[in-house]
Amino acid sequence: MRDRLLAAEKVRAIDWRDGALHLLDQRALPFEETWLSYTDAAGVAEAIRSMVVRGAPAIGISAAYGLLLGLRQRLAAGGDWRAALEADFIVLGESRPTGGNLAWALSRMRDRLQRLKDGDDPSQVLETEALAIHESDREANLNMAQLGMELIRKYQGSEQAVLTHCNTGALATGGFGTALGVIRGAWLDGMIEHVYVGETRPWLQGTRLTAWELANEGIPVTINADSAAAHLMKTKGITWVIVGADRIAANGDVANKIGTYQLAVNAMHHGVRFMVVAPSSTIDLALASGDEIPLEERDGAELLEVAGHRIGPDVDAFNPVFDVTPADLIDVIVTEKGIVERPDTAKLAQLMCRKRLH
Ligand code: MRU
Repeated sequence: MRDRLLAAEKVRAIDWRDGALHLLDQRALPFEETWLSYTDAAGVAEAIRSMVVRGAPAIGISAAYGLLLGLRQRLAAGGDWRAALEADFIVLGESRPTGGNLAWALSRMRDRLQRLKDGDDPSQVLETEALAIHESDREANLNMAQLGMELIRKYQGSEQAVLTHCNTGALATGGFGTALGVIRGAWLDGMIEHVYVGETRPWLQGTRLTAWELANEGIPVTINADSAAAHLMKTKGITWVIVGADRIAANGDVANKIGTYQLAVNAMHHGVRFMVVAPSSTIDLALASGDEIPLEERDGAELLEVAGHRIGPDVDAFNPVFDVTPADLIDVIVTEKGIVERPDTAKLAQLMCRKRLH
């Protein structure tokens, strides 16, 4: 199966080559495939803030390369490069607040810097680290896909229809996706008949990105208004809701794209299973519960405009772009280290001590 999954890796959103970071501009998809190049940390931070690149794992990977670019500039400038690099840690670290992978990747880069030995070339060492962060996310996607597929198989009756939200695919990760990786694998294995994807207002990641990824691969996909989710669960035989995560607190509460919480409430009401798929780099044991996760709010213009056209009067717009799903609404969290059913603090702590399963 691993080979079939690898063959499903069709899209790449992040490319490190010729000493620069190249990002597929996700603001222009699905109609234009434009690549933008970055050679400094501030540029990468702006790309993250403005959603050229998005999705928690992809943001973490990009930040690691951004830090490497910053290091190269600081070394070339001479002087106290370590002190100067702190500004790059800050600008990258503050680019988007909710995703846990950003802080995780930067702390891996800092840790590697602190372990430099005499004679090491800092630039080479950090390049190796950034590449390893990228590659390990790709590997994690493969492990999670296989674990998620086992769960779908376990509960399989006939072919199933699943509902997903936002974009958790190749565009959001270093591989072929977290939740969308499970969905891809299950479809390849003949377990899933149809994928429903919520449009994901206001940025429309579902419509613009997930539908594009799935349609390109011939996976049957239907877009629904986010507000159609309960009706869909009642009428379309949805067996699983499968979503990603931006940060998972120690007790299993999950921050993810706004609208995930209401999907979980609806899933509970309709007896639909709820699966969260995320690499362990998304789990933040330092936060006891979801109440401590910083939730990003973006400009209200995202709600009052569609594709640059004003659609509402001049009033306030409340635009939180993430919400927190309480652990007790989640059937299972799938990570590359293994799965946690009915997550709680003890089970997540135990998971984080484990080595990888596959
Ligand atoms: O605002 P976005 O598009 O960065 O939000 C993305 C999500 O909420 C994803 O579900 C999450 O980052 C997981 S991506 C594998």
